[in-house]
Amino acid sequence: MDKIYKNIVILTGAGISAESGLSTFRSADGLWNNHRVEDVATIEAFERNPDYVHDFYNQMRPELFAAKPNAAHLAISELQQKYPAEVNIITQNVDTLHEKAGNKNVWHIHGQINQIVCLNCGNVFETWGDICSEDECPQCKIRGMLKPNIVFFGENLLYMNKVDVLLEKCDLFISVGTSGVVYPAAGFVQIAKYAGADTIELNMEETSNNYFFDRHIFGPAGTTLPQLINELLLASKNKV
Ligand code: OAD
Repeated sequence: MDKIYKNIVILTGAGISAESGLSTFRSADGLWNNHRVEDVATIEAFERNPDYVHDFYNQMRPELFAAKPNAAHLAISELQQKYPAEVNIITQNVDTLHEKAGNKNVWHIHGQINQIVCLNCGNVFETWGDICSEDECPQCKIRGMLKPNIVFFGENLLYMNKVDVLLEKCDLFISVGTSGVVYPAAGFVQIAKYAGADTIELNMEETSNNYFFDRHIFGPAGTTLPQLINELLLASKNKV
């Protein structure tokens, strides 16, 4: 790989956090094998039984608070510091491991576990504590309107205007640890490819939307992403 890129987009999914000890969604012991999406991740479920949904995310929060970034997250920081390109991370993950690793330009399109949003006034607040349906909004003081700032099925993704711009201008698109079954994120590679980007997929296995990737690298992201980033850094040094 000897090309020098100017705008790199890295799309991440649950697989990048697997080596930090966090469960993915669709593996044999994944979150969606132990819980029904319809019970905990739809707006209808939240309206029907908000405390059941709050409990699901309340239980998740301490584990995600304690989790530490792994070599894949840290390698992204090295890329951002040493490679002469703008590097943006579009993540589907609600954990904050990118931030803990010092990654910049992180766009949480599916929200963040450490945020709540008030459905009345729209303000977003940070918390690692528990929430329940009786809680009062710190801003508008209305009770019962706080929701985890996590995008449920049937809701619009966050930061999509920014994402559209990033995908149109990127010349290298790297997908790390996502099964590519949840849209619109699963379609980002296609947009980037049509806009002229080189595309690379890092995963343990073949995914269902691998058609638009120029290159596949199989293996754990904690090993494969640092290797790929070393390749990029080496190419940029050789050009200087
Ligand atoms: P999935 O659980 O669907 O997929 C995780 C992917 O990571 C799989 O393709 C695995 O093969 C791969 N993987 C596992 N361990 C890995 C490792 N160490 N290195 C590299 N790859 C590895 O998770 P996502 O694709 O992130 O949405 O799921 C997308 C969305 O579905 C999530 O954001 C979530 C869920 O519903 C919301 O909750 C809003």
